[in-house]
Amino acid sequence: MENKFDLIVLGGGPGGYNAAERAAHGGLKTLVIEERELGGVCLNEGCIPTKTLLYSAKILDYANHGEKYGVTTTGAKIDHAKVVERKNKVVKTLVSGVAAKMKGAGVTVARGTGVITGKSADGFTVKCGDDVYSGSKLLICTGSEAVVPPIPGLRESVGTGFAVTNREVLDLKELPTRVVVIGGGVIGLEMASYFNSVGVDVTVIEMLDKIAGPTDAEISKILQNNYAKRGVKFILGAKVTEVTGDRKNGAVKYEKDGKTESVPCDLILVSTGRRPRSAGIGLETVGVLTERAAIKTDERGRTSVPGIWAAGDVNGKIMLAHTAYREGEVAVSDMLGIADRVDYRSIPSVIYTNPEVGSVGETLDSAKATGIDAEEHTLSLRYSGRYVAENEGGDGIVKIVVGKEHKNVLGVHMIGSYASEIIYGAAMMVAREMRVSDVRRLVFPHPSVCEAIREAMFQIN
Ligand code: NAI
Repeated sequence: MENKFDLIVLGGGPGGYNAAERAAHGGLKTLVIEERELGGVCLNEGCIPTKTLLYSAKILDYANHGEKYGVTTTGAKIDHAKVVERKNKVVKTLVSGVAAKMKGAGVTVARGTGVITGKSADGFTVKCGDDVYSGSKLLICTGSEAVVPPIPGLRESVGTGFAVTNREVLDLKELPTRVVVIGGGVIGLEMASYFNSVGVDVTVIEMLDKIAGPTDAEISKILQNNYAKRGVKFILGAKVTEVTGDRKNGAVKYEKDGKTESVPCDLILVSTGRRPRSAGIGLETVGVLTERAAIKTDERGRTSVPGIWAAGDVNGKIMLAHTAYREGEVAVSDMLGIADRVDYRSIPSVIYTNPEVGSVGETLDSAKATGIDAEEHTLSLRYSGRYVAENEGGDGIVKIVVGKEHKNVLGVHMIGSYASEIIYGAAMMVAREMRVSDVRRLVFPHPSVCEAIREAMFQIN
């Protein structure tokens, strides 16, 4: 294989494969090195597989709760093995799509772990198996991995399969009876949603006193109430102290308000956050600086070493696939001498529960914390005819956060149907610094749930 490249990309996840395609289109001779499968965590063990599972769960929910809408179904049940089989098919299709994209763009793909071995006359050398490549530029997109906290018994339980992370949970051969989810963040909530829909007893133990991390507090509470009504147990403000036993006779012990309690279970999902994967790839050989495993980058993705950029989860900024896409693009722009930057203020985030949560920009709390003079306006989604038609007893809301002085849109936060798809429109409002008066002049489709955003703008004086 030819071994001299203009750009070597370490990691073929969303950050890496997308940047490689852009770089190749920009005229750079590009190599991507991937040790597992193209598509990375997002495609193989994250965003896409979970959405496949959650879609099956949604169909089951519709079947089981159709009476309110005049539809009676009997005998609806989940075939988990079939759900996993379909998930594997979806993943395979999309992974081969990425491979085809690479081929179409003329990007070379090498399989194995790439390790930076030093500087060369042409730039840098990278070893992958027995092959040594040289690249004038490097882009590091090695992603992140699940953190398994040092709780007594937990790491051993991951070894025996009693505890699983986001990776193994997607390939369970059969459903557990009782699952304890440690960590009520995005992964924990999406999987709690799946397990709850398919009839598994679910307990979420979270150390903070709210679920869903930085999500607006009122929206977190609505989400929690929706799942509590469906039988999910939430233990908040609790410290997990020990994991005992195994799949047959196991339990999770926790401390709350000075008391120790125990929840029996036959599966534990560990979803307590992720850490950048920066070890073992030779960063120290060339002097790339890291801070708590995250590669330090500037706003254009440049690391501390000229000629080396980093994008995606490995920089520890915002661990989302769509952030990685954009960061990779900005890094490539910089390599090509094009002015570009990531607008971190307007990156949307979604929790694919049912109801969905979509957020972008400042919450009132985050605005206050950064000293921005802001106010928030909340509207029930029941102002939307379509929402009422499709959501018996729905309690969704949309919140608009605006600057007090100019009434510019700083943030939009929503819980309810289609929030995942609607939020990009709100992201444009934040990115373009639109004022309330600008949004009022836009025409939204009717009937639609997104109309609630427009309506909310008219409630702001
Ligand atoms: P997370 O950071 O979203 O949530 C972890 C939660 O665990 C936090 O609420 C934290 O307080 C809690 N926690 C930490 N240690 C704990 C302990 N010992 N006991 C109890 N609770 C503890 O991390 P998560 O859910 O693992 O997700 C990882 C990354 O993947 C995130 O950056 C997330 O944004 C991304 N992701 C995004 C998705 C999406 O966009 N829909 C879906 C899934 C993951």
